[in-house]
Amino acid sequence: METMSKRYTITAALPYTNGPIHIGHLAGVYVPADIYARYLRLTGNDVAFICGSDEHGVPITIKAKKEGVSPQDIVDKYHAIIKQSFEEFGITFDNYSRTSAKIHHETASEFFKTLYDKNEFVEETSEQLFDAEANQFLADRFVVGTCPKCGHEEAYGDQCENCGTSHNATDLINPKSAITGNKPTLKETKHWFLPLNKHEAFLREWILKGHKKDWKPNVYGQVKSWVDDGLRPRAVTRDLDWGIPVPIEGGEGKVLYVWFDAPIGYISSTKEWAAREGKNWEDYWKNEDTTLVHFIGKDNIVFHCIIFPSMLKAEGSYILPENVPANEFLNLEGNKLSTSKNWAVWLPEYLEDFPNQQDVLRYALTANAPETKDNDFTWKDFQARNNNELVAIFGNFINRVVVLTNKYYDGVVPKPSEYSEVDKETLATVKAYPNVIASSIERYRFREASQELMNLARLGNKYLADEEPWKQIKVDPERTQTIMYVALQIASALAVLSEPFLPFTSEKLKSILCHSELDSESDWADVSKKDVLLPSGHHIGKAELLFSKIEDAEIQKQLDKLEASKKANEASRASADIEPQKEEINFEDFSKLDLRVGTIIEAKKMPKTKKLLVLKVDTGIDTRTIVSGIAESFTAEEVVGKKVTVLVNLAPRALRGVESQGMILMTETADGKLVFVNPDETEATNGLKIS
Ligand code: MF3
Ligand code: ZN
Repeated sequence: METMSKRYTITAALPYTNGPIHIGHLAGVYVPADIYARYLRLTGNDVAFICGSDEHGVPITIKAKKEGVSPQDIVDKYHAIIKQSFEEFGITFDNYSRTSAKIHHETASEFFKTLYDKNEFVEETSEQLFDAEANQFLADRFVVGTCPKCGHEEAYGDQCENCGTSHNATDLINPKSAITGNKPTLKETKHWFLPLNKHEAFLREWILKGHKKDWKPNVYGQVKSWVDDGLRPRAVTRDLDWGIPVPIEGGEGKVLYVWFDAPIGYISSTKEWAAREGKNWEDYWKNEDTTLVHFIGKDNIVFHCIIFPSMLKAEGSYILPENVPANEFLNLEGNKLSTSKNWAVWLPEYLEDFPNQQDVLRYALTANAPETKDNDFTWKDFQARNNNELVAIFGNFINRVVVLTNKYYDGVVPKPSEYSEVDKETLATVKAYPNVIASSIERYRFREASQELMNLARLGNKYLADEEPWKQIKVDPERTQTIMYVALQIASALAVLSEPFLPFTSEKLKSILCHSELDSESDWADVSKKDVLLPSGHHIGKAELLFSKIEDAEIQKQLDKLEASKKANEASRASADIEPQKEEINFEDFSKLDLRVGTIIEAKKMPKTKKLLVLKVDTGIDTRTIVSGIAESFTAEEVVGKKVTVLVNLAPRALRGVESQGMILMTETADGKLVFVNPDETEATNGLKIS
């Protein structure tokens, strides 16, 4: 591919330092970003591949509190672990910084001040959620409640993980403090808000129009729907003591919202790198010729496609991202990856069990990457990718080429004679591969790209199987030389083209083929351009195994580990599930509740939601509409005719534009299934009071 050298700033989401990283992070963000960065470097571009640790935010303070240590202890510990994992897995960041670094505090403060001076914030004293017992304002992960958009009952104060929407904590329905479980009160406090509404026209134009149409449909669709729903000012400061102090008068005791400072971390990490490498960081952030790409998971879309671009635009001197190729989520053996439930494959543990097998995981995760929909990682699939593809195709081909070259020619690349039609076709096909793979990578289709790479190995394997040099050697030594010569060219092409995907294997293979002893080592484009990658007379080394078979017992061990954490979870959940009794109430309090026997007479799914059913309920008093978050436990058909307990005098509220006039009483079992609290089916008629 004839690419002109261009300048790229590639960022990968800064991981939170409240735990090690797992396969979900690797598959969704870091492996694709690394493939992209390595590919761009191999094709001669100027690349700054930037990351660092996200060390602020509420989850870190919660974790610190739980472990009885300081937040700084937590971030120091996990920053080191995460950084090491990235190195071990060959993620080639040009710089890995951290948001507790001085340069970041300075950069983020300055950014805030610039926006403040430009009058880009709205300053507002308003009532915010407050936990009196903990004596703390509740924002972000300190508060959970029902999502105003989708009805998910465990939405956080700043974002709902179910639908991805970002909101203000005061928007939550039935908020509860994550610290004490208390219902928050309201208390006045001053904050600075970024008026996203002011940037709506710009965002619309930037996102929805023109050349941005090649964004992934999931990214484009989400962003469009948020903008269409209308944007509101978002607070970018918090009443917390962990974070970057608000650097203006009146900001004492307050810090920047973690999602304000973290993306600026990309900029400060670039500064750190530029200072070290003698570069100008502004070339990578302020020059229109630079292409900026953010690699993230889907829960980060709103921050990278709405909030951060609005910040950059408001500041005025920055470029905006060209693309934000967000991935969907990876599940593990059918269940959502979860740090708190220890349902994950942690990178340090993987390496203990599969030492030196980073490429196997990189490959399995890429071949099954959650690019267009959530995907499931299974250990069986991992084993199959290794045994049936890496070992049986790639490894087998290379091994045969290297062993036979050593056996027949003492490791010297033989001279070819005349090419057969198959030879010519094969060599032409090899030359086409750099373009084929590049075109997938450039469209962020890493999964497809990895399969094309495997197809090249497949081509080599088939070529040997068809041409059978081990038979030819006995009858036609001259023909055998040509066959081995062609096969060696394929092996060399694989060594070059596998680098972004299988960097450790690529290096090993280059060393087996003695690439460094060539007059000029081939790069990506040379595989298309050069007629010869390994010339006759070039000496190669001895065979070494690139991949080895993974046995059933090793896979079983991983499955057993998961089974054990499932058991541990169930046990702790069962004991945690019996909630303590709530505070005492008097009879009057109770008698305010008007509970009736009712029957569901109609039900339908609320369009575009996962959880909500719209029910018509005969309460004996009337027939009314109730929106209920039970669709994950029941189908609409199933609930029609059910006798239920209804709270009829609950103030009506609108959910997704439908007014809900009451509440149906439910209970939830330990495994998360909802169950109706239903009155005796035969005796109770609709409208009877429950007291
Ligand atoms: N720490 C965030 C997460 O893990 C990602 C931050 S990305 C950045 O979801 F843009 F803020 F850096
Ligand atoms: Zn939601």
